[in-house]
Amino acid sequence: MGQASLPHAGHWRHVYWPASTGATGLDLRGLGAGFGVWFTGHLPWAVSREQYRAYYALRQLNALYDAPDPGYILKLADLQAGKAPVSVLPKIIQGGMGAGVSNWTLANAVSRLGQLGVVSGTALDVIVSRRLQDGDPGGHMRRAIARFPFPEMAGRVLARHFVEGGRPAGTPYRAIPMYARTGSARELIELCIVANFAEVFLAREGHDGPVGINYLEKIQLPVLPSIYGAMLAGVAAVLMGAGIPIRVPGVLDTFALHGPAEYPLSITGSIEGDDTLMRFSPSDWIEGTPPAMKRPLFLPIIASNTLALTLSRKANGRVDGFIIEGPTAGGHNAPPRGKPPLSAAGEPVYGERDVVDLAKMRELGLPFWLAGGRGTAEGLRDALARGAAGIQVGTAFAYCVESGLDTATKERVLRLAAAGSARIFTDPVASPTGFPFKVVQLEGTLSSEAEYLARTRICDLGYLREPYRKEDGSTGYRCASEPVAHYIAKGGGEENAQGRKCLCNALMADIGIGQTRAGGIVEKTLVTSGDDVADTARFLAPGAASYSAADVVARLLGVAS
Ligand SMILES: Cc1cc2nc3c(=O)[nH]c(=O)nc-3n(C[C@H](O)[C@H](O)[C@H](O)COP(=O)(O)O)c2cc1C
Repeated sequence: MGQASLPHAGHWRHVYWPASTGATGLDLRGLGAGFGVWFTGHLPWAVSREQYRAYYALRQLNALYDAPDPGYILKLADLQAGKAPVSVLPKIIQGGMGAGVSNWTLANAVSRLGQLGVVSGTALDVIVSRRLQDGDPGGHMRRAIARFPFPEMAGRVLARHFVEGGRPAGTPYRAIPMYARTGSARELIELCIVANFAEVFLAREGHDGPVGINYLEKIQLPVLPSIYGAMLAGVAAVLMGAGIPIRVPGVLDTFALHGPAEYPLSITGSIEGDDTLMRFSPSDWIEGTPPAMKRPLFLPIIASNTLALTLSRKANGRVDGFIIEGPTAGGHNAPPRGKPPLSAAGEPVYGERDVVDLAKMRELGLPFWLAGGRGTAEGLRDALARGAAGIQVGTAFAYCVESGLDTATKERVLRLAAAGSARIFTDPVASPTGFPFKVVQLEGTLSSEAEYLARTRICDLGYLREPYRKEDGSTGYRCASEPVAHYIAKGGGEENAQGRKCLCNALMADIGIGQTRAGGIVEKTLVTSGDDVADTARFLAPGAASYSAADVVARLLGVAS
């Protein structure tokens, strides 16, 4: 690979080109010159901003589809001759939906349809462990784990988690350890690497399309082994929201070479001089010769121009495009700017300041996709007309047959939607992350106050715990949804615990692997979806009770009958 750098806007940007072409690409975006200049040997080529963008899109495509570079000099010449560029970036990204809603089955189906399927990388360790403890129906986990490149590790994970015939009915799942900044149990890290590998492996199985993986930046503790495991399976894109993942691109670069990576853990109350870094060195885990790996695309999920600009300028490696997510999207939402008061119904109020300026996004010159209430042919057409490469859609895919959401929940919500009575409440406090969280209003689930109050608080999965500095300088972990007395004992404020819900356990219940508690009580669900849930019945054929990912894709592309 050749590499060239130019200082721009106060930092260095690196552009990589295949060494075989003998060419060096200098990225002059951001210099405000209105054009890019590409150097081939000593010959400078001047291209317009539009040509530059189109060319960049072609390069992205090559990276995404793992194709050899089509010979960029020819392509550049085509562009200069005024030939229209063909945009072949995926128009539809099936959004990552944690935990386990966008599972390998869904992502596989979407990628086979020529779009970008994305598995959720959230809590895959516990999800894969529980699938194995349920006897691995269909043998999918075992089939994937058998292809893991480090066989001894694969064997240990199977030995620890697989239960032939499944755990006895009514008994709890065996717990897995929780993460810490340093010294996490080796068996946990192994499970994490193998689980991320397995989910991506299965999503890629049987076709050549690219597959992405989604992580939440707020869930930092497992991030390094998770990414490494997904890369071992050849993940084509890492999509990351709920935070500022400015240090992720460098991790991808390093892991592509099996090099050691660091990631700073956000620790409340940490002071200068504290060691806040998490470290992961592949050489501690590799058996034999590791497979060659490709650096996946990095597509952060953002809700503001400022964040897009910061990431494109200050990230420690290449950012390849953006997902721009609005406040109607399912899952967590970015909080509104300026902390406006809640609406009369108690929901966050979004205004003009929360609208991302697409003209400024276009100036960044990177492809972007629009997310949030975009699940229609019109939504896609409009996005393309505004300069987007396409759309990211979640809710519509969450209710199709391939998704991981429990079938009874899907059917129930689709019936409500068909009757015009599916409702979302954007809960400003439910999530221990502090981000607004969209909740489908369903009786008998934790969306009901009575069910919420009836649940005994417990924190035994711990993905959303907040690391904090203890008096002795070591790191403690607390969750605003754990038993209130424990939270207060760890320095948490009582008021901050009010209304918090244990998303970890509820989201496991949503995908049919909720924990069984004393007395045979199974954890209750708490279902998230975007505002679009009210219209999900549009995908149902007359008389049908379910629809597929292919139905969604056909509709969005405007090819449905
Ligand atoms: C059930 C569900 C879970 C979600 N979980 C995540 C997640 O874990 N990470 C993430 O970045 N986005 C998550 N999202 C957001 C989607 O990836 C996508 O951006 C969003 O759903 C798009 O808006 P739409 O729901 O209106 O189609 C989730 C959405 C849904 C519906």
